[in-house]
Amino acid sequence: MAFNDFHMDNHWLPFTPNRQFKKDPRVFVAADGMEFTTHGGQKVIDGISSLWCVGAGHNRKPINEAIKKQLDTLDYATAFQVSNDKAFMAAEAIAAMAPGDLNKVLFCNSGSEAADTSLKVALAYHRARGEGHRNVFIGREKGYHGVGFGGMSVGGIPGNRKVFGSAFLPRVDHMRFIHDPVNHAYVHHQEPVWTEDALADLEQRILPLHDASNVAAIIVEPIAGSAGWYVPPKDYLTRLRKICDTHGILLIFDEVITGFGRLGSNFGADYFGVVPDMLNFAKCVTNGVIPLGGVICRDKLYDEMMKTSAPEHVVEFFHGYTYSGHPVACAAALATLDLYKKEQLFPRAGEMGRVLGDAFHSALKGLPNVIGIRSLGLAAAVELAPIAGSPGKRAFDIFLDCFQKGSLVRPAGDVVVIAPPFIVEKSHIDTLVNTLADSIRKHA
Ligand SMILES: Cc1ncc(COP(=O)(O)O)c(C=O)c1O
Repeated sequence: MAFNDFHMDNHWLPFTPNRQFKKDPRVFVAADGMEFTTHGGQKVIDGISSLWCVGAGHNRKPINEAIKKQLDTLDYATAFQVSNDKAFMAAEAIAAMAPGDLNKVLFCNSGSEAADTSLKVALAYHRARGEGHRNVFIGREKGYHGVGFGGMSVGGIPGNRKVFGSAFLPRVDHMRFIHDPVNHAYVHHQEPVWTEDALADLEQRILPLHDASNVAAIIVEPIAGSAGWYVPPKDYLTRLRKICDTHGILLIFDEVITGFGRLGSNFGADYFGVVPDMLNFAKCVTNGVIPLGGVICRDKLYDEMMKTSAPEHVVEFFHGYTYSGHPVACAAALATLDLYKKEQLFPRAGEMGRVLGDAFHSALKGLPNVIGIRSLGLAAAVELAPIAGSPGKRAFDIFLDCFQKGSLVRPAGDVVVIAPPFIVEKSHIDTLVNTLADSIRKHA
């Protein structure tokens, strides 16, 4: 590969082993549909929707056109004290897609900001109703809620926490993880039925320890995405909802990955039939084209905050970002959501999810070092036995090998994940899964 037309000295790459990257760069210069073109001219299939973002595939004209039009109409307007038309329209479209009375949208720019926003809403809401003592947050082991201090504190992936513990929020606990590698290593299109109660620890140990009356919110991903696509046991989320209701605790679903189609439904909340008090989104809402995130709140949260006795000129919730509800991002969201609907891409994601899951289980089960496979919605994960003393190396080597062969897959610890755009065809799935299978054999 020739990299003569730019230097690589100044860009510090995120969540990337920079030393390895600089020796073996992987640089995209174009994308269309399911494929990237690298700097060296190689075609690479986007097997991970560019980190769960690009549901409709790359270079979609209706989204590009909407952005161009918006740039020429209203490029930007401050979000504080004034607003813009597209922010209201995008909020309306998003609220209309959300279940129950999840109707009030607070915009931000990323999943990390959505996590921190939702935690702050929880504190402010409880305080507004005279329960300011509720300040304990509960996350889950291996949860991922981004890289802000709030999201990191409730997050549970050890590598993301290791160095930053001294700055975590002070009153946070974590529920046990939702994986049973002995009885449910293989999950295929359905939630595993556990004999054990995965929430007993929350009810019998964590809530009594803090006293449930002090707990502000519990935050979970409906499916643990970044950790490696771990599906909850059957009825887990329904029971979690009931526990929260019993104790007046807010339930936050972090749907940055499961929101907008990945499970074949609008949200994971729809798939699992459970309505949270807040629903965090980002990623697929703009097809990845431009940053936008948000928190959809139940009416009662907004209503409570508006009940304040403060004079009308006083801000009710001291929170927001310079780019909250950016008109260009909101125009992109409107065009994206319209495109998803016109092309019926969410049902398609559900259908192609079955094709992907079937391919994973039939091609990868029994291969050397494969110790688990999980598929649900349009995502599937294969778990590999780690190399002794080198956790994560096997999956990383497989990722590199697949890349060289033209397939972008995602290593997450010792798991490899594939989660393609909703426009994926069976031929792409076959190529991705066969490439992965060859590579798993090669790295035995
Ligand atoms: C569930 C979840 N929450 C939050 C985030 C953080 O999003 P961002 O990288 O946009 O800050 C992610 C990113 O993968 C995520 O999967």
